[in-house]
Amino acid sequence: MRHSTDTCVSVAATPQHGPEDRLGEDGRSAARASSVGALLERARERLASSGGSPGLDAELLLAFAMDRPRSFVVGFPEHGVPAAEIARYQRLVERREAGVPVAYLTGRREFYSLSLTVSSATLVPRPETELLVDAVLGRLPDDEPARVLDAGSGCGAVALAIKHHRPYCRMVAVECSAPALEVAFSNGARLGLCVDWVQSDWFSALADGSFDFIAANPPYVRANDEALFAGDLRHEPRVALDGGEDGLECLLEIIEETPRVLSTGGTLLLEHGNDQATAVRTLLRHSGFRGIRTHRDLAGHERVTLGRLS
Ligand SMILES: C[S@@+](CC[C@H](N)C(=O)[O-])C[C@H]1O[C@@H](n2cnc3c(N)ncnc32)[C@H](O)[C@@H]1O
Repeated sequence: MRHSTDTCVSVAATPQHGPEDRLGEDGRSAARASSVGALLERARERLASSGGSPGLDAELLLAFAMDRPRSFVVGFPEHGVPAAEIARYQRLVERREAGVPVAYLTGRREFYSLSLTVSSATLVPRPETELLVDAVLGRLPDDEPARVLDAGSGCGAVALAIKHHRPYCRMVAVECSAPALEVAFSNGARLGLCVDWVQSDWFSALADGSFDFIAANPPYVRANDEALFAGDLRHEPRVALDGGEDGLECLLEIIEETPRVLSTGGTLLLEHGNDQATAVRTLLRHSGFRGIRTHRDLAGHERVTLGRLS
């Protein structure tokens, strides 16, 4: 399957503010109980043991239930919430308590300042992956039609962020999951960013290539890591997370397949687990890469390793 996006559909939603109800004393205390501030406080308490960020999650879910921007629920704690919206909010909070990621409940996630649609077929893009995009953009000239490949596109986060900032590059993304690729395709169309989306087992559907850059955030969690069976991760696609027994299987496959599709002098950039940098550097060196170096994330963890094909 191959899709190309070159159209732009713009979506804009402006919240409408209606007049407040005129209330008696009883009505006022009932309204206070169902005010934005009271609902947020109760949800924060309920979500405190669910991990993540209870305050932020409560705000995002209430804003979604009310079809308002988050700034509204932060800025108007006294605002009364209608019963139908409260009921919608309670259902969302219950599902969040059960571990469903906020992004799956709202269908949206911000990545590199782009608002992306996500679904249960796609990984929820992580802030750490912005480092991979930074590392590509730092090397990619902004006025040349370089050829760039995103391996394992998920919802399209990496490919779309790069294309947004380097409109002259020729962007291709491969992904094995057809439902994930559909989400990536529709994100590209909605944002008006032209990417060639290709369904492929890593690079098998690509002709011998001449990409200048390959960026990948492959699955790299060890198959028996208990994190896979807890918290948000248990709701995300296993194919997006499970990197085999040692977590390195997909990283190794990509490194071994890369020389066929990357031009000499081209750069491969890999996101990996914070304890995998040494192994990834070794794999790159043994496969003929040079100029190998690792970038650290904001927490100081070794997170993205790159090498040039010599
Ligand atoms: C960790 S997710 C990254 C998604 C996205 N790039 C991001 O950073 O949010 C890894 C992605 O690789 C895809 N994937 C796993 N195995 C693959 C394979 N053999 N060929 C192509 N894509 C694969 C998964 O479906 C998933 O979308």
